[in-house]
Amino acid sequence: MISYRDPNGRLNFKGKAVLHANGVNFANGVSFRLNMEDLERGEELGRGNYGTVTKVLHTPTGVTMALKEIRLELDNAKLNAIIMELDILHRAASSSHIVDFYGAFFVETCVYYCMEYMDCGSLDTLVNFSFGETGVPEDVLARIAGSTVKGLKFLKDELGVIHRDVKPTNVLINNRGQIKLCDFGVSGQLEKSIAKTNIGCQTYMAPERISGEHQNTVGTYTVSSDVWSLGLSIIEIAIGRYPYPPEAYSNILAQLKTIIQDDAPTLPTDRYSPEACDWVASCLVKVPDGRATYAELLEHEFIQRDEAKANAENGDAVDMAGWLSKALQFREAKIAHVQALAAAALAPSAPPGHPVLSAPATTRIGLD
Ligand SMILES: Nc1ncnc2c1ncn2[C@@H]1O[C@H](COP(=O)(O)OP(=O)(O)O)[C@@H](O)[C@H]1O
Ligand SMILES: [Mg+2]
Repeated sequence: MISYRDPNGRLNFKGKAVLHANGVNFANGVSFRLNMEDLERGEELGRGNYGTVTKVLHTPTGVTMALKEIRLELDNAKLNAIIMELDILHRAASSSHIVDFYGAFFVETCVYYCMEYMDCGSLDTLVNFSFGETGVPEDVLARIAGSTVKGLKFLKDELGVIHRDVKPTNVLINNRGQIKLCDFGVSGQLEKSIAKTNIGCQTYMAPERISGEHQNTVGTYTVSSDVWSLGLSIIEIAIGRYPYPPEAYSNILAQLKTIIQDDAPTLPTDRYSPEACDWVASCLVKVPDGRATYAELLEHEFIQRDEAKANAENGDAVDMAGWLSKALQFREAKIAHVQALAAAALAPSAPPGHPVLSAPATTRIGLD
């Protein structure tokens, strides 16, 4: 019945989308607007520093999407400029390692952008192993690393875009085991409008960005800064926690100083092969020029071995589905655990001073 849905239920629009102040008209034979009235809100998928991501149903097409809300204090001219800049995202739809972008619109001073819904969420929520897991197996890690590099390389080579926000919450996975990147810095206007005052207790910024050499000068943020963030993210995904443990530092400044001054983190050598450790180390070189390029990362033995497994004669030799189903079970157990703790803390009989969970459980299910 509908030509604009592919067999997986995602929006498949060929031809250019026409963007305007009130919505988006797709010109793939059928036109429809993408605006708030046509979206039925579902559950909240997560919350970042600048807004929330919600699962929505686009009723005219029946396509489930992720709706990202970014709160900004801007006038209409700037908002229009942002929407126009986001247009480039339509071109990213041709990579299988980048989430599809469906369109953007704004209501008052919020920008809303609709993207492909990734039903298993972001990797940060799947990898914490405090429930007895022993970390992500190497073959799965290699698949994640390879997919992420391919996404980053596509952005750079095909769109001329540097991601600028590589971190595990921006690496998403779906039930087919596909790994895709989201939230890359495509709109200079949007970047400028989002005041990055809150670094939080986890930064993936490369040392050269923290030290101030190139700070806030968009032009000098180079692709190798993303390579650092990639290396750090892959360690976090492997070991299930942020590699610089926030509790080890008296404050965020002490932690930032460590990132600049100390040796970079490494993968645990007792759990990962020398090739995997070497791959990560080649991302986490302190001097930006010394870091591996995307081409080098893809040619590396760690990724080449994965390529061979993906193309194995008897089908894909990496059991992504098996790992994913275990990780999802683990996540369910963890959510239940967090909810039970929260309920106990809020119960009238809770002892005074019992810790109450204040962090949104969907953003980081971390109770280690
Ligand atoms: N397209 C999507 N599909 C499913 N979940 C998503 C999608 N985009 C974002 N999320 C979830 O929403 C959360 C909040 O996203 P965001 O606002 O970008 O903040 P952050 O990336 O800093 O966590 C993410 O951590 C992720 O788990
Ligand atoms: Mg994000």
